[in-house]
Amino acid sequence: MKILITGNLGYLGPVVVRHLRTTIPGAHITGYDTGYFARCVTTDARLADTLCDEQVFGDLRDIDRDFVSGFDKIVLLAAISNDPMGERYARVTDEINHRGCLNVLDKIDDLSSKSIVFASSCSMYGAGGDAPRKETDALNPLTAYARSKVDVEQALERLAGRGPVITSLRFSTACGMSDRLRLDLVLNDFVASALVKGEIEVLSDGTPWRPLIAVKDMARATEWALQRPADNGGRYMAVNVGSDAWTYQIRDLAHAVGDILPGVKVRINSAGQPDKRSYRVDFARFRAHAPDHQPLATLADTVRELADGISKIPALPSDFRSSDYVRLSVLTGLIDKDLLDSNLYWQ
Ligand SMILES: NC(=O)c1ccc[n+]([C@@H]2O[C@H](COP(=O)([O-])OP(=O)(O)OC[C@H]3O[C@@H](n4cnc5c(N)ncnc54)[C@H](O)[C@@H]3O)[C@@H](O)[C@H]2O)c1
Repeated sequence: MKILITGNLGYLGPVVVRHLRTTIPGAHITGYDTGYFARCVTTDARLADTLCDEQVFGDLRDIDRDFVSGFDKIVLLAAISNDPMGERYARVTDEINHRGCLNVLDKIDDLSSKSIVFASSCSMYGAGGDAPRKETDALNPLTAYARSKVDVEQALERLAGRGPVITSLRFSTACGMSDRLRLDLVLNDFVASALVKGEIEVLSDGTPWRPLIAVKDMARATEWALQRPADNGGRYMAVNVGSDAWTYQIRDLAHAVGDILPGVKVRINSAGQPDKRSYRVDFARFRAHAPDHQPLATLADTVRELADGISKIPALPSDFRSSDYVRLSVLTGLIDKDLLDSNLYWQ
């Protein structure tokens, strides 16, 4: 089995590679990434990159036809991966996340026997009502990032008519330790704040709902989706990935982290504006179709692993929100140094 993983040199990619290497031991795994964050390593252990059989450095927008046609299974992770980057680089977000992602599949001559897994996002539900959102509910993408995910999903549904099995994993917000940790994700930010400042400061009023998922459990869902037969949910399936147990109001999440890490103060900005991006998500479809790949991580273990991993990062700055552990800061830094141009191509 030949597996291609685009975007393997980011936050989620290394955890997926490590997991697939263990659970599908005979697989030939190729990573394909342009390497924006390749140097943002946050571990001194063996890198998951070295578990790939092959690493190709390249841009999704220019992927080679002969190269890409040789894989049985394709995991599409590569993207400009959050709202702040999407806001700053809206046009490029569409070019990479939407057109670049589809370019990979357009280059494949015969899609019929392929399995394709797309890293989508629950953020496409946007704001609105208290009822948990089902896959069949209307989407309300509020940002360039969320819109790019909707655009890809619509195209994937059409492509499924050509015979591949395609799964759009609408992931909850990720958290947990990785070879390339990001601190621009809510739980990771809370743990880093707790360690660096001894307190967690919630900037909004803390009322928004946010479903979370540990990166390890995202990797397990990816493994399930890669091997999903068409008779388990159809040739195209969009599925919310997460769990009720990991659906928090932000203020409750902050207090939960404060309870796990002793001596940490929690400050909620009660006068703050509520974050527009509040959503609860219905995970019934995921439970029904992937009963053996449900999230297993606990919040306490995930917070302790993060605390352990973050404490080993040499000299994590107290202003880590504008450091190399935040994806937007890395990209703007690469542009400022003329290493990337404004289209996010290497100079
Ligand atoms: N982290 C989350 O909370 C979360 C939640 C839902 C969905 N997702 C999705 O999961 C995927 C992975 O997220 P992540 O947290 O690992 O993001 P990340 O930013 O850490 O990694 C993205 C990777 O994609 C690569 N990439 C970007 N543009 C590229 C291009 N044009 N050509 C080749 N490679 C390119 C980057 O170099 C990087 O290594 C993304 O699609 C993201 O939207 C993430």
